[in-house]
Amino acid sequence: MFKLSKLHSKHYLLAPNVCDVCILQTNSQKVGHIDLRPFFSDRLCPFEGHKHSLFYLFSVFAVVYSADRVFDGLPTDRPLIIAHRGSSGMRPEHTVAAYELAIEQGADIIECDVSLTKDLQLVCTHDVTINSTTNVHEHREFDDRIQTYVVEGRSVTDYFTIDFTLDELKTLRKVQQNSRRDQSYNGEFPLASFDDYVAVAKGSDRTVGIYPETKSPPFVNGILQSRNHTTTFEDILLEALAKHGYTSPTSPCFLQSFHPPSLQYMAPKTPLPLIYLTGTSLTDNILSEVATYCYGIGPTKNAIVRVVNDNIVEETDFVARIHAHGLKVHPYTFRNEYNYLAWDYGADPYKEYERFVKIGVDGFFTDFPWSLSNYMELTTGGSPHVRPSFYVLLLAIVSCALV
Ligand code: G3P
Ligand code: CA
Repeated sequence: MFKLSKLHSKHYLLAPNVCDVCILQTNSQKVGHIDLRPFFSDRLCPFEGHKHSLFYLFSVFAVVYSADRVFDGLPTDRPLIIAHRGSSGMRPEHTVAAYELAIEQGADIIECDVSLTKDLQLVCTHDVTINSTTNVHEHREFDDRIQTYVVEGRSVTDYFTIDFTLDELKTLRKVQQNSRRDQSYNGEFPLASFDDYVAVAKGSDRTVGIYPETKSPPFVNGILQSRNHTTTFEDILLEALAKHGYTSPTSPCFLQSFHPPSLQYMAPKTPLPLIYLTGTSLTDNILSEVATYCYGIGPTKNAIVRVVNDNIVEETDFVARIHAHGLKVHPYTFRNEYNYLAWDYGADPYKEYERFVKIGVDGFFTDFPWSLSNYMELTTGGSPHVRPSFYVLLLAIVSCALV
């Protein structure tokens, strides 16, 4: 006779009516078990009448510390708040100002699209080109840098980071490329180097994770080869991460890419969690293969709640299928503006968050971490950065000592 209790949004507890052995499972699969008999036998347990509470505490402890990978200092009791390109809804993306604001606004993690410079320095920029996000066109000294390359099968003419040194890029200033967003910071902030980005995360008085993405790795590696460099984009990134101490499976750092070969190249070289980004749904066969080297999937939110002509047409089974393969789900990209929201949400981003929390996603990429943080605070009843699991652990230890 087993009782099924919901522990939180993702985990359930299968437990006998008396304290015995509990089985921990996610929505779809068993993830572990814990034998509580040594702690709860009548002979040893002085907490008659409180057994179930202690049993529950141990179970939560087991879920948090045994079943799932727990990242140093990141919350475990709710989906992660991943600030997409920093607080990019309010500041020009990928600037120290955008990253700092994201942290101030409650982000757990700041995201960074990574590119490479001519002198093999890592720089934060969404594209390998910079015309739309900087004032480079005002810098006539760089007129001769306009080049045409084939990037991911498309011929692109622009200014490319790979043709600038980091010092040269630092003379440019970022602009807000979304014309519907605040333009008043245009021309104020330089591009952030990868070191600048990490320094912001590490400079916080609480743990803030990082989430670098290898951008257009076939293009970047092709240029490195054509210039007779013997290293790779991925190796340069992994070396930088090691330099900053991101070397453990529980380091608060997720590595992401739309390119499986980039992830497969890094997988044997790092214990860090890898996230496969996808703009479409994936079959179970592909998920099963990805699960051999990835920690999770970063799908477009449209593969989860399908929107056509601004109306929701379907809630898919994609999240359940991803979870069934033991993978986490961090969908992108949540934005507050009504033109990014299905009519069904009534122009209310909280309604969209609510729907995806119910579906069971494990994190959100958002341009507006302030809203997501406020939503989490309202719905979890406290600061989004309190980590109840720590207190549960403490209580479990105290309980153990008393028993
Ligand atoms: O990395 C998650 C999300 O950022 C993927 O889309 O194009 O904004 O990098 P993109
Ligand atoms: Ca990205």
